[in-house]
Amino acid sequence: MLLNAIFLLTSLTAVALAIPAFDLFSLNASVKGRLHTTQPLALPCYLSYSNGTTTQTNVPNIAACAEISTQTSNSSFIADHPGGYITSNFGICQTTQQGCPLGVADQVLQTCHQGNVPSYYVDVREPSDVAAVLAFAHETGVPIVVKNTGHDYKGRSAAPGALALWMHNVQPPIQLTPDFTPEGSSAPVGPTLTYGAGQGFQGIYETAHAHGMMAIGGTSPTVGASGGWVTGGGHSALSPTYGLGVDNVMEMKAVLPNGTYVTANRCQNQDIFFALRGGGGGTFGVLMETTSRVYPELPLQHATIIAPNLDLVDGIHQAVSLVVNNTEQWSADGWGGYMAAGVKGVGLIFIDMITPKLTLDEAKASMKPATDFATALLPNLSVPITVEIKTHANYWEYYNSAIAQSLSKQGVGTGVAMASRLISTQNFATPAKKSQLIDTFTTYGGFGSVANVYNAMTRAPDPLRAITPEGAYQNEGDTYEPNPEESFWGKKNYERFLAIKREVDAGNVLTCHQCVGWDEGDGRFGCYPQVR
Ligand SMILES: Cc1cc2nc3c(=O)[nH]c(=O)nc-3n(C[C@H](O)[C@H](O)[C@H](O)COP(=O)(O)OP(=O)(O)OC[C@H]3O[C@@H](n4cnc5c(N)ncnc54)[C@H](O)[C@@H]3O)c2cc1C
Ligand SMILES: *[C@@H]1O[C@H](CO)[C@@H](O)[C@H](O)[C@H]1NC(C)=O
Ligand SMILES: *[C@@H]1O[C@H](CO)[C@@H](O)[C@H](O)[C@H]1NC(C)=O
Ligand SMILES: *[C@@H]1O[C@H](CO)[C@@H](O)[C@H](O)[C@H]1NC(C)=O
Ligand SMILES: *[C@@H]1O[C@H](CO)[C@@H](O)[C@H](O)[C@H]1NC(C)=O
Ligand SMILES: *[C@@H]1O[C@H](CO)[C@@H](O)[C@H](O)[C@H]1NC(C)=O
Ligand SMILES: *[C@@H]1O[C@H](CO)[C@@H](O)[C@H](O)[C@H]1NC(C)=O
Repeated sequence: MLLNAIFLLTSLTAVALAIPAFDLFSLNASVKGRLHTTQPLALPCYLSYSNGTTTQTNVPNIAACAEISTQTSNSSFIADHPGGYITSNFGICQTTQQGCPLGVADQVLQTCHQGNVPSYYVDVREPSDVAAVLAFAHETGVPIVVKNTGHDYKGRSAAPGALALWMHNVQPPIQLTPDFTPEGSSAPVGPTLTYGAGQGFQGIYETAHAHGMMAIGGTSPTVGASGGWVTGGGHSALSPTYGLGVDNVMEMKAVLPNGTYVTANRCQNQDIFFALRGGGGGTFGVLMETTSRVYPELPLQHATIIAPNLDLVDGIHQAVSLVVNNTEQWSADGWGGYMAAGVKGVGLIFIDMITPKLTLDEAKASMKPATDFATALLPNLSVPITVEIKTHANYWEYYNSAIAQSLSKQGVGTGVAMASRLISTQNFATPAKKSQLIDTFTTYGGFGSVANVYNAMTRAPDPLRAITPEGAYQNEGDTYEPNPEESFWGKKNYERFLAIKREVDAGNVLTCHQCVGWDEGDGRFGCYPQVR
């Protein structure tokens, strides 16, 4: 811990020395005045501000502070702020515990620290802004980081003392192309949507719907569709039928680490096209635009089955086995979304899923084991259950349903330590495998300062790791995943990603924690506590 703190201070000092005022002046000119200092979101609530180099008095702004206090779980509000982090622990320097949190008692009397919030940002509007920052970083060694919405669960869009490329305002009008032809190709690929790096799913869904189309995306309105989501893979409730985000991408435009602006697709710049679709964000280039396939709207069946209690110990085992027993069939039936069994704070059983493959009657038949299970529990439960299976005219209607809207707000504005595993068909292949999975889930568990939480979190899935060799989803994986190369990408893919990384950015001008080719000693990781 002490070592980390010293390390951090050193890196901050280095940064302060590395950016003489005249350099900033010329950088600012080359990005047309779009360079700014980044203020922590809650700064208006404090009397004192330490920007990483100097502590000075700050004049609190009571009205602004009051407004911020009402918006702490509003992902749009946080994403609109260059210093805002939706997973709030990543705005704080977790090695020194210094930050600028909201809602702390006697807050006004304390000091707002820059923490893990980058010192400067460029409000990127065009590829030349990115090229100028990359050239500046090459010249000066100033650490840079790519930030879009700040949703990342692993903090990969924050870094102490850094200069951020803030992508959130790259939002040109979204374009629907009825039959898109990738550059350099003669074969059209069908209908697509083209959207900028800062675009969230809200605008994408809305535009698609206005054209009778549906896009494949996440539940949250603000997750960066053309940022971390797609570069990390991108799952959707519709993925069992239509594939992941990366499967639907037809073209991407990106600024490479050497400043070259390229159009990548299956016909040209194939390596970078491969790397940007799953190799992870903030590593291979700065994505400016994505073109993805969209599909004609169709009715969806929507199942919501919730028994919120957790007081039936017996019921937990039953709920887990229900889910394990039925997963293969539900997957074949096209169900996608959220499912939990025996989880604290969630309930005995929680299913909220949609499918485009079934009629309403087929959907009811498919979900019968779950509805029967929940209904049978009813007399034993102290609070009401929800059992509902209904048809939505289209994805837009589902997306606007109360349950989908409430799910999209989960975890926003709070500190999150997450871990996950991918469970593949082989885990369901035999009754013995299913029992093993059920036993592992029902004995899972255990969670207290920051490092302790990470410590518990990174170890909790070990029993599950032992039986799920396929790995984990990088965007929702453990911040301290052991052997991330193997886990997030697989050896063969990782080798290709690493070869591409070495070709385009051997010096790691772009990098992030547990990203392809990362160097653990890089000062940008000074706010990650040592856990493993
Ligand atoms: C409330 C919530 C709901 C979520 N729902 C889903 C879901 O349904 N499905 C799913 O798959 N994931 C989901 N996620 C996880 C999500 O995919 C990741 O958090 C993802 O990293 C967010 O990307 P971003 O661009 O919005 O965030 P940021 O934190 O801004 O960036 C994330 C990473 O991408 C890099 N990056 C951002 N923009 C660019 C760019 N233009 N070029 C290159 N690199 C870039 C950053 O450097 C960083 O490494 C959810 C997360 C939250 C907090
Ligand atoms: C960059 O220039 C703009 C416009 O002149 C100015 O508002 C801004 O404060 C400058 N940024 C820095 C860091 O000096
Ligand atoms: C911090 O504030 C001091 C005093 O205003 C200023 O000289 C310095 O450049 C600032 N540092 C950063 C990283 O903004
Ligand atoms: C959330 O923030 C956005 C962007 O600042 C704002 O337009 C919206 O009204 C806010 N929502 C609520 C419920 O306050
Ligand atoms: C529900 O209550 C009945 C009757 O008391 C009991 O037989 C049954 O085991 C209970 N179910 C669970 C899951 O606790
Ligand atoms: C799951 O399947 C096993 C093996 O067929 C069976 O014993 C168990 O009762 C099933 N559980 C549920 C909740 O249906
Ligand atoms: C930039 O990098 C790409 C990919 O490595 C390379 O093809 C291109 O020639 C480079 N451009 C310049 C100007 O160096």
